Amino acid sequence: MSDDTAFEEINEAKANMDHIYDQPDPRAYFRELQKIGYVIPGLAKPIFQKLISHLQRRRNKSVHMLDLGCSYGVNAALLKHDLSMPELYEHWGQKALVEATPEEVATDDRRFFGNLDTHEDISVIGLDQAESAVAFAEEAGLLDEGLAVNLETGPLPEAATEDLELVDLVTSTGCVGYVTEKSFERLLPAMTQGRSPWMGNFVLRMFPFDSIEETLKDWGYVTEKLERRTFVQRRFTSAEEQEQVLEQLRERGIDPTGKETEGHLLAEFYLSRPADEVAEAPIERLLAA
Ligand SMILES: C[S@@+](CC[C@H](N)C(=O)[O-])C[C@H]1O[C@@H](n2cnc3c(N)ncnc32)[C@H](O)[C@@H]1O
Repeated sequence: MSDDTAFEEINEAKANMDHIYDQPDPRAYFRELQKIGYVIPGLAKPIFQKLISHLQRRRNKSVHMLDLGCSYGVNAALLKHDLSMPELYEHWGQKALVEATPEEVATDDRRFFGNLDTHEDISVIGLDQAESAVAFAEEAGLLDEGLAVNLETGPLPEAATEDLELVDLVTSTGCVGYVTEKSFERLLPAMTQGRSPWMGNFVLRMFPFDSIEETLKDWGYVTEKLERRTFVQRRFTSAEEQEQVLEQLRERGIDPTGKETEGHLLAEFYLSRPADEVAEAPIERLLAA
């Protein structure tokens, strides 16, 4: 079975959310995901903050981030403005917004986020195949740059290479599985022109990370998994979804007992860095500091 088929098959075990990924504003996304307790960006936030603070000190500059599968700029909102997922759910679920047009939501959000303090000194490039979501995130001022591309199926636009050279940190939540080693292969030549970025990916346990790890290895990276920790992504949408995911996990030799059997999709955290930087401070030490 090719890697493509493998990922497609694993994806089929999960409920399909495609209809909320590319709307002109985030209301439907947050309405639907709140129902199933989608929390991973909030749980990822303190880990990304640690990485940002290490990179700021090590590189003595403000951190340029590339968020893969950025959607409506969720991770950018949490990190730039120190917001929480409950706050984002409340913001985009407001009654006052029910009748608003997408343009009104974007204009209102530009003001809303513009009036909030900027917490982290970061600039964020967001990459997602969902053109409308990326356009919204740029319009609302959450992304400094949006890249609406699908690197699984097409090349990196030449115009994007200059910005990618500056990237210090690649992040992703809820994205690996849709995005495979192909996207990384297309990003790496540009991203490693300068100082190679660190990459922090939260990955559902049902998706293997080995192909991405292998690709990164060819570019001098070492990948570490944060051991003994899992992160809730969301609740299962149905008993059927849970059953299919449990089956996928068992097929991969992963025991879901006491984990996914309890009702949530769980992710693990993978950190990939240039080999010399890993030797200096392994993941456990880095995240403890
Ligand atoms: C579960 S959402 C996660 C969004 C966001 N990171 C979060 O945690 O809220 C998955 C995202 O991956 C994006 N996606 C799917 N296939 C993609 C691809 N081939 N390239 C880039 N993004 C993709 C979807 O459009 C969607 O925004």
